Amino acid sequence: MGHHSPHTEIASRRDFVRWLAASPLLAAIPGCAPVGPGSVPTGPTAAAATSTAADALDVFDMERVAETTVPPAHFGYIQTGVDGEETQRNNRAALERMFIRARRLVDVSRIDTRVTLFGREWPTPIVIAPCGSQRGFHAEGELATARAALAREHLQALSTVSSTGVEDVNEARGEPVWYQLYATSNWDVTQAVVERVRAAGCPVIVLTVDLPGGSNRLTLERWSRTDDRTCSSCHRPRGRAPTVKPMFQGTSYRPGDFRSPGLTWDFIGRLREITDQRIVVKGLMTHEDASLALEHGVDGIWVSNHGGRAEGSGQATVDALPEIAAVVAGQVPIIVDGGFRRGSDIFKGIARGADAVAVGRPYLWGLGAFGQAGVERVLEILSDELRITMRLAGAPSLASIMESSVGAE
Ligand code: FNR
Ligand code: LAC
Repeated sequence: MGHHSPHTEIASRRDFVRWLAASPLLAAIPGCAPVGPGSVPTGPTAAAATSTAADALDVFDMERVAETTVPPAHFGYIQTGVDGEETQRNNRAALERMFIRARRLVDVSRIDTRVTLFGREWPTPIVIAPCGSQRGFHAEGELATARAALAREHLQALSTVSSTGVEDVNEARGEPVWYQLYATSNWDVTQAVVERVRAAGCPVIVLTVDLPGGSNRLTLERWSRTDDRTCSSCHRPRGRAPTVKPMFQGTSYRPGDFRSPGLTWDFIGRLREITDQRIVVKGLMTHEDASLALEHGVDGIWVSNHGGRAEGSGQATVDALPEIAAVVAGQVPIIVDGGFRRGSDIFKGIARGADAVAVGRPYLWGLGAFGQAGVERVLEILSDELRITMRLAGAPSLASIMESSVGAE
């Protein structure tokens, strides 16, 4: 009574250590931070450690900064998927389930990441995906992205719903960008937009086909509810039509035109009649549609589920790649996007049959966090990581990254 056995004493000392490890007291003692799950700094700690773009160690450091710098509704717009985010999560989960089959004793003293798309050689296969409304993330918006793309020589695709017109973006980029087209349900609008981007010199139209109507974006709605600021181009005052985006200005565009539920494959032919630009179809996820795209004479295929923010199919893009690559069989280039966050992910996309890999949210985080410098840093991180991955995998060029370079659990 009142007398603990040695065993009990040890147990209670262990309890004390456990209590101490979990308590904020320990965190305050320099050099004594507990090591283990939960001890990796996240949230404000990591954000505080990233005070300049150069401090970011990976793209997730940028994400944490962007959460503090981008207005909540607009951060919600970046982050959102649909439903319970299953598709967005599966894009990542499928990549994380894959592994690299590293080969040894290959000469990796020179790493070559060049890729040629439609006769233009790029130093890197990392592509800037078309994402709308970038002035909602940083005052310089698409212009900052374009300047970063120029500085690091990346292929940039510009969204139809950009917050800056194509001419200004091309000027900032130093050469015409690829133009992402939303067909709209008003042919006059489509024609006017295509004529404008053709005149601006854009060599490629990326026709996005995976968003025929609205999508069920709950994360966006939740973040928007926390944001009371006025924003005439999107979320406040509620119920009022947003201002018309620059690329629709001067056309007969009406708000309902944005949806195109009636869009079918013969649209490719109609587009062919009005332009000689290359046509890439963005948003394909099955070999059936890849075959139809080839039958309709498209110049390229962009495998995408819109970053999990259109359909809630649950299918990961990296898992859709093999069946599509099999029917395409090198006839046209394949681009893939959806959840690519590290150089090793980009390696996996190429191994599964993509010629190039696009990123969306990562560069938007960089943009929101530090403007042009943030986008540049994201592109630099991904490029460096890809080169490191290739060297350690014994794959010195993109052509040497093969199906057998990866496996999956
Ligand atoms: C997009 N995406 C997109 N796609 C498109 O064809 N036209 C567009 O206007 C937009 N807008 C847009 C806005 C935002 C905020 C995001 C995050 C995405 C989809 C984009 O091109 C690409 O398919 C995905 O972003 C790729 O997935 P990750 O890299 O974001 O996971
Ligand atoms: C989006 C649309 C604009 O994903 O493509 O938000």
